[in-house]
Amino acid sequence: NTVNVVLSGGVGSRLWPLSRKSCPKQYLPIFEGKTLFQKTVERNQELCDSLVVVGNQANFELSRNDLNTLSMTGYGEIIEACPRNTAAAIAFAALSVQPDDILFVSPSDHLISGTEAYSKAVKRAIALAKEGNIVTFGLKPSRPETGFGYIESDGENVIGFREKPNLDTAEKFLRSGNFLWNSGMFCFQAKVFLQELDKYAPKVLECSKAVMENKKDGFLDEALSLEIPSVSVDYAVMEKTDRIKVVPSMFEWSDMGSFESVFDYMSLQGVPTDENGNMVIGSDLHTEFVGLKNTILIQTKDAILVLKKDNAQDVKKVYEKLEKDK
Ligand code: GDD
Ligand code: MG
Repeated sequence: NTVNVVLSGGVGSRLWPLSRKSCPKQYLPIFEGKTLFQKTVERNQELCDSLVVVGNQANFELSRNDLNTLSMTGYGEIIEACPRNTAAAIAFAALSVQPDDILFVSPSDHLISGTEAYSKAVKRAIALAKEGNIVTFGLKPSRPETGFGYIESDGENVIGFREKPNLDTAEKFLRSGNFLWNSGMFCFQAKVFLQELDKYAPKVLECSKAVMENKKDGFLDEALSLEIPSVSVDYAVMEKTDRIKVVPSMFEWSDMGSFESVFDYMSLQGVPTDENGNMVIGSDLHTEFVGLKNTILIQTKDAILVLKKDNAQDVKKVYEKLEKDK
């Protein structure tokens, strides 16, 4: 049994004001009329036997709506009281299925094209997972991105996994040519993941078990959840396990993490830029940019963001400030 575990816990703070707490980026129907969440579920439907959504109290109704639109029924729901990061989110899913089940974990905020290359990679990952491996997907890096994990590899063998290196290190990795980007999708048997979690982050496992034993209709208890160390699966397991493999992959992949990626996507979709590379997103008003280069103007019904593309990562700070001022 292969279970698609869709992680949908993030708020997407670097995409404010498109992405809001009340409607995070993965639920915006801006990708050919579909949401990233829907596209994720659809893409994996044929490759997996069932679906478990790990989300939170603020967004489970948005997930349900999206799944309704796709006429999906019979899926599992794990509804977190508070975000405890991806090691715990995946542990919840692994504890909710049979030990031998294969979990195919996918973030809900990625844009992927190249269906054939994608299904080939996932099928290979499932085969490797059946042999007891923890499988990652490696993509050819194109820039020294510091927001990703890097996999040093030789074919499907992994020499090392390094999460979010600093810029110097990322540049070194890029030059060496032996490193792939970690896609953020993973595949493994539930029991193998739990064994490795027990070895390298036992407290996460122990507290996650307590939370799952006390879940009510899919809802997790807040006080117990707060006991779980908040750590991402990349640091907790991927950097440490020696059962790790990588499927070098050829599909086109983009993490819709910041307006830089949204800009690239919109350009491909034919949204125009002026002669200085300025772009308007979300507004039909006639807009002129004077003396500005590589600027993006984003308009929603109640907010405007004017952003220099190079500063796309800093949007998070605006979001954090607004949250604090509330
Ligand atoms: N349910 C749940 N609960 N989901 C969560 C939580 C949580 O507490 N925290 C994060 N997620 C979800 C996010 O919504 C996203 O879909 C996914 O898990 C990954 O989390 P991110 O916060 O987006 O991780 P990242 O982008 O910094 O890094 C990961 O992805 C990169 C590729 O996009 C790592 O795996 C990197 O190594 C990788 O390169
Ligand atoms: Mg991400």
